Amino acid sequence: MKKNRICQLLGIKYPIFQGAMAWLADGNLAGHVSKAGGLGIIAGGGMPIEVLRQEIKKAKMITDNPFGVNLMLMMPNVAEQIDVCIEEGVKVVTTGAGNPGVYMEKLKGAGIKVIPVVSSVALAKRMEKIGADALVAEGLEAGGHIGEITTMALTPQIVEAVSIPVILAGGVGGGKQFLAAFALGAEGVQVGTKFIVANECNVHDNYKEAIIKAKDRSTVATGNYTGHPVRVIENKFAKELLEMEKQGASIEELEAKGTGRLRLAAIDGDVKEGSVMAGQVASMVTKRESVIEIIEGLMKDLEIEKERLNKYFEEIK
Ligand SMILES: Cc1cc2nc3c(=O)[nH]c(=O)nc-3n(C[C@H](O)[C@H](O)[C@H](O)COP(=O)(O)O)c2cc1C
Repeated sequence: MKKNRICQLLGIKYPIFQGAMAWLADGNLAGHVSKAGGLGIIAGGGMPIEVLRQEIKKAKMITDNPFGVNLMLMMPNVAEQIDVCIEEGVKVVTTGAGNPGVYMEKLKGAGIKVIPVVSSVALAKRMEKIGADALVAEGLEAGGHIGEITTMALTPQIVEAVSIPVILAGGVGGGKQFLAAFALGAEGVQVGTKFIVANECNVHDNYKEAIIKAKDRSTVATGNYTGHPVRVIENKFAKELLEMEKQGASIEELEAKGTGRLRLAAIDGDVKEGSVMAGQVASMVTKRESVIEIIEGLMKDLEIEKERLNKYFEEIK
């Protein structure tokens, strides 16, 4: 077993999480990521109970390795979702959108490792206090719902504030950023956008193409006005939403505009009217690959970048 704390804690080969992605990260993707040695995570947020159970079963058919389920704590069926995770023997739960405090005893009692996703030092400290096993520190470069601090600034502050291991999320597209995660004090990475184009990801092909075509400035953050920023690829829908925000639309109007848009892009393939959530690193995702190629590629690039860094240090001696 590797000495890396994340690998030890979870019994995985590589400290690479495939981030949960609503409508995109199902049992198939998560199962294949875990089979390849990372930690696959099923996006459970909002999933009906029986769908969640099916996706967990799918992942279990693919691998005996541990995988995780992401729970959005403000969802009304979260208590039942937790029961399903326990019944199905899920080993890891990552949490977002709320405080897992009330569920902690039950989850930990069932031997589940609890890893909240956080975007501030205060929340990180609170999560450690209530018994979190590790933390995902997510910066504003990431795709989907984001915080307000960059990964670069956030990660070392959280690492210094807690003693549990920290996994960096947001902006990891290759070996340079993977290495930077370690330099910032993280002990693993969570990758979302890069896995969207994986062969094993069942998202609509138009969505994958939108990621591959993206440039460095292709994403925008909507929702800053409502206090719930979301990073998406700029398209007709995003432009209209931003314009509504500028014109001072009410929160109800903005929510009505946004409802169902991720599904529209991910399932129906409407990448003009839908919400194409993706991180700033989308521009570094240039080709479709299998999950194994993505994971092995990240590990290989990490080695290459480490050698480069050693050379840089030699040169300044
Ligand atoms: C399409 C999409 C959907 C996402 N949905 C969720 C989600 O349901 N729950 C969650 O905790 N994070 C979600 N995220 C965030 C990812 O789990 C991950 O932390 C993030 O993508 C990492 O940054 P990166 O995109 O730069 O790799 C989503 C990200 C994307 C791109």
